[in-house]
Amino acid sequence: MRLLARTVRGLEPVACAEIHERQLGWVESVRHREVVFHPVGDALTLRTVDDVATLVAEVDGIGVSTSDLRRLSAAIDRLEVSEIIGHGSNVDVSASVVGARRFNRYDVEDAVGSRLPGYRSRRGGVRPPDGLTWRVTIEGSLARVAVRLGRAPLHRRPYKVASVPGTLHPPVAAAMARLAGVAERHVVLDPCCGAGTTLGESPGLRVGFDLDVRAAAANLRGVTLAVADASALPLADGSVDRVLVNPPWGRAVRPGGGLTADLAPLWRELRRVVTGEAVVAALLPDGVTPAAFHAVRRVPIRVHGRPAVIHVLAG
Ligand SMILES: C[S@@+](CC[C@H](N)C(=O)[O-])C[C@H]1O[C@@H](n2cnc3c(N)ncnc32)[C@H](O)[C@@H]1O
Repeated sequence: MRLLARTVRGLEPVACAEIHERQLGWVESVRHREVVFHPVGDALTLRTVDDVATLVAEVDGIGVSTSDLRRLSAAIDRLEVSEIIGHGSNVDVSASVVGARRFNRYDVEDAVGSRLPGYRSRRGGVRPPDGLTWRVTIEGSLARVAVRLGRAPLHRRPYKVASVPGTLHPPVAAAMARLAGVAERHVVLDPCCGAGTTLGESPGLRVGFDLDVRAAAANLRGVTLAVADASALPLADGSVDRVLVNPPWGRAVRPGGGLTADLAPLWRELRRVVTGEAVVAALLPDGVTPAAFHAVRRVPIRVHGRPAVIHVLAG
C-alpha cells in the first residue's frame, strides 16, 4: 500500500521529516504539495500534513487537452470500485491541477466521479454532503488518484472549536513546533496566541498571551493563558525555551497595544524572556525579517495564497 499526503506548499520537506523521524513510513517521492510514502505506522497521527489518502491509481499521459481525461475515466473503470467505497456512501472528488490546461478541476473531478456510484459533483461551487472523498492530483503528465484514509481531513482538529481572524492552519502550526524542536521538557511561549493553534500543536509547558485569550481558552486545556501585551510580557528573564509566534501582519489582524507602530518591541521582549539555547519559530510575510535573532533556517510557504516564511531563529 502507498499513501499520498497533501501538504501546504513549502511544507513537503517538513512532512517527509515527520514521516521519517516518527518512523511512520518511508518516502517514495515528493512533488508540489504532495508526498507519496509507504506506511509502517499510523499515518493518521501525522500533524504536519493536510490529509492522507490511499493511492489507488497512477495515470500517465495526461496532456493539456480535455480528451486526455478519458484516460483517467478508463483507469477508474479498471478499479474494483465497490471494494474501495463499499455501498451506500456519498462520494465526492477533489482535484488539483498544476500547470495550464484546457480543462479545469471540475472537468477532472467529473471525469473520475462519473465512474463512481453515489458521486456528487462540486461543479458550480456546490459543497457535497459528507462521504468518501477521492483526491486527484495532476502535475506534468502524471495523474494520481487516491481515497481519503480518515473520516475527516487531518487538518481539521477536534480541539479547535473557537477561532479568530488570521488563525493558523493547524499543520502550519505543527510544522513550526517541529522546526523549533519543541519537546515535553520545554517551556513553550506564544506571545500573540490568538486561538492557541501553536500551543495546541505543541508538547511541553505551554504559555500563551494575547490581548484577548477567549478563543484560546475555549480550545485548550492544561495551558497557562493570560491577557498581556507582547511588548511587556509578565515573564522572568531567561525563562522560555521555545517561542512559536505568528504576530499580527496588519492585514487580517491589526497589531494593537505596544505593537501598533512596529514589531520591534516584540523582538526585544522575546530576547529578554528566552534562555541562551532557545529556538524561535516565527511565521512572517515574505520580505519581513525578524530583528534581534540569528537565522538558522527559512522555510518559504504559502498562507492563504500569499508568500510567507517560517523563520527558525536562535539567540
Ligand atoms: C495572526 S494572529 C495569531 C493567530 C494565532 N497564531 C492562531 O493560530 O489563532 C495575531 C494575534 O496577535 C494578537 N495581538 C495583536 N497585538 C498584540 C499585542 N500587542 N500583544 C499581544 N497580542 C497581540 C491579536 O489579538 C491576534 O490574536
